[in-house]
Amino acid sequence: MIWFFDSWFGWLQTMKYFKEMYPEYDYIFFADTKNCPYGEKSWEEIRDFTFKGLNRLFDHWAKIVILACNTAAAYAVRSRQTLYPEKKVLSITIPGIEEIIKRDKTTGNVGILATQATINSNIYNDLFARFWGNGDPMFNFVMAPELVHIVEKELYNTTKIETTIKDYLSKFENIDYLILWCTHFPVLMQYFKDQFSGDIIDPSIESAKKFWPYLERHNDIKEKLSANSNISCYTTGDKETFDKIGSQIFWSPIQSQTI
Ligand code: DGL
Repeated sequence: MIWFFDSWFGWLQTMKYFKEMYPEYDYIFFADTKNCPYGEKSWEEIRDFTFKGLNRLFDHWAKIVILACNTAAAYAVRSRQTLYPEKKVLSITIPGIEEIIKRDKTTGNVGILATQATINSNIYNDLFARFWGNGDPMFNFVMAPELVHIVEKELYNTTKIETTIKDYLSKFENIDYLILWCTHFPVLMQYFKDQFSGDIIDPSIESAKKFWPYLERHNDIKEKLSANSNISCYTTGDKETFDKIGSQIFWSPIQSQTI
């Protein structure tokens, strides 16, 4: 089983890419819906929710967890190997960084759209400095909390989606690349494409692409993954809402259980 973790619906989008690329595997999704949005919480709360959530998954015998939440990853990425030396917690943030570096090593003017907590964590400055080396890219950060609310509650409201995205994009100056650094945002990908003509990077797609090379390097994990094409979903919140919106995003029926 491959487990995914997010505060709510972002992981569905991430899972969609994994499912498309690796349909044979079994997937389990855990959404900490009750505590969403993480992006508006303090760093202590986010760390607490993230580690409690991960512990719950490990209690359910999870061996490999994809942290499909950039906000949770921002506060857990430094300590995950120390806290869970026996387990694999893969963060989707690093493949996103590797991709932008691959596309433009030195000159990119990069726009990063994320939750407040992710931007306030400063983790990306650390990660970029570590991975980028000597380049001199320009980073522009814009916090986009309203988009998380829209994905959770107002996916039908196309006018609001268009104006909100337009408003956030207008805060960037001449960017060449846009990184959607919150797993909720790519649910609105078509709207971003309509309004932004540069390159859009979705870390979830990059993570899915890099998953196979990862498994090739870790045969011990690959051998243990069950492969019956099953999907199960757990939420800490209301099952009916979860199934309704989840099915809309995933384009096929979702049946969750509350835990
Ligand atoms: N989907 C999450 C992320 O990738 C966060 C949304 C939230 O809970 O604020 O950052």
